[in-house]
Amino acid sequence: MSESPKKLHIKTYGCQMNVYDSERMAEAMGAKGYELTDDPAEADMVLLNTCHIREKAAEKVYSDLGRLRPFKEARPDLKIGVAGCVAQAEGAEIMRRMPLVDLVVGSQNYHRLPEMVAAAEQGARPVDTEFPLEDKFDHLPERPLAARPTAFLTVQEGCDKFCAFCVVPYTRGAEVSRPAARILAEAQKLVDKGVREITLLGQNVNGYHGAGEGGDWGLARLVRALARIDGLERIRYTTSHPNDMDDALIAAHGEEPKLMPYLHLPVQSGSDRVLKAMNRKHTAEDYLRLVERIRAARPDIMLSSDFIAGFPGESDEDHRATLDLIAAVGYGAAFSFKYSPRPGTPAAGRAGVAPEVADARLQELQALITAQQRAAQEGMVGREVGVLFEKPGRLEGQWVGKSDYLQAVHVRGAGLAPGVLAQVRITESGPNSLGGELVAG
Ligand code: 5AD
Ligand code: SF4
Repeated sequence: MSESPKKLHIKTYGCQMNVYDSERMAEAMGAKGYELTDDPAEADMVLLNTCHIREKAAEKVYSDLGRLRPFKEARPDLKIGVAGCVAQAEGAEIMRRMPLVDLVVGSQNYHRLPEMVAAAEQGARPVDTEFPLEDKFDHLPERPLAARPTAFLTVQEGCDKFCAFCVVPYTRGAEVSRPAARILAEAQKLVDKGVREITLLGQNVNGYHGAGEGGDWGLARLVRALARIDGLERIRYTTSHPNDMDDALIAAHGEEPKLMPYLHLPVQSGSDRVLKAMNRKHTAEDYLRLVERIRAARPDIMLSSDFIAGFPGESDEDHRATLDLIAAVGYGAAFSFKYSPRPGTPAAGRAGVAPEVADARLQELQALITAQQRAAQEGMVGREVGVLFEKPGRLEGQWVGKSDYLQAVHVRGAGLAPGVLAQVRITESGPNSLGGELVAG
């Protein structure tokens, strides 16, 4: 009698880097005979790939673990693992707080997951949150991805910037860039499997400095080398720090057609006083000049950003400066968050602004951002834009893809399929997606 394959359920929180890591962990476990399932009730193992960036995200992990308790009581051999940034930050503390957890694996140790699961099956409760000298990606199996037209590819991890609010330099460690040859080889394999768009990932991706032919490569050089891969049609990268947007990268936006005209460039605040307290090491003016230079290279580029409302010491005037900056830039999309003190970060000990003040500011930011986002969507109507189709839409004969500017676009037309890249005339706009028709020819 052959044993049926074991089932693994992964829940991913937080950023795209975690999405990528979850895929790689699924592949590592796949090599050990585990199949993925969407249903935690039928899983032999549940893995939470966690996020520590704000308190809400971290606390959600504990409430989700609590929700797994009945599953574990019903099936004591169910294994529960915690991975990602909460695992990295809290390590053995998770084991103490949550006896139902069987293993804790930090974000640099995923290549050890299969052996940790084997140890957990023997009754151990392994914890590994070391920063190893080896590169986890060298020890993970090759990616047997299902045919999908888009993929993430991690090129850089960690952050040396130490913004005063941010846990990333502590959870993901110092900046490390993967060698260019490995990234190019991984990209080629993805393209061979049908991928047409690659998003390069890094906590500080434009700080990429990897070993390459002839010495140290920056992100611009990497992008240009990737652009030479036949069949790869689109390149994106995220997330960037303004101080690492060098001339070569700005020039690439003007010269490399495969580099898509959408850039996530977080500024966090429009007040110089707050930017200084955040240790951002740039002013609002620096950022605005940078945006001008990027737009000079690529006039149609769409920008997005992150903003924090209610950073310690933020006055009404500081908040207005942020609204002014948003008005001056004109974003295609943006994300705003209420400041959340994170243990171990420099800002955590500073006196915060009153929660109701932070809430009101957050709402004001969001109202302005939503209005800009809507205007950007409406501004697309009548334009022609490239769309890479990904999957069928909800309506008969309809397909959904992403525009060059990363907007969801619904189209009805013959010959559409995942991976088809076509020119589309935008005919209608909604808050979250656009509608259009194929341009003949
Ligand atoms: N509180 C609120 N927002 C935060 N971010 C990072 N740390 C915090 C924090 N402590 C936001 C920043 C960052 C985004 C990913 O999350 O805006 O760019
Ligand atoms: Fe965090 Fe980004 Fe600042 Fe690095 S650059 S510390 S990841 S907010």
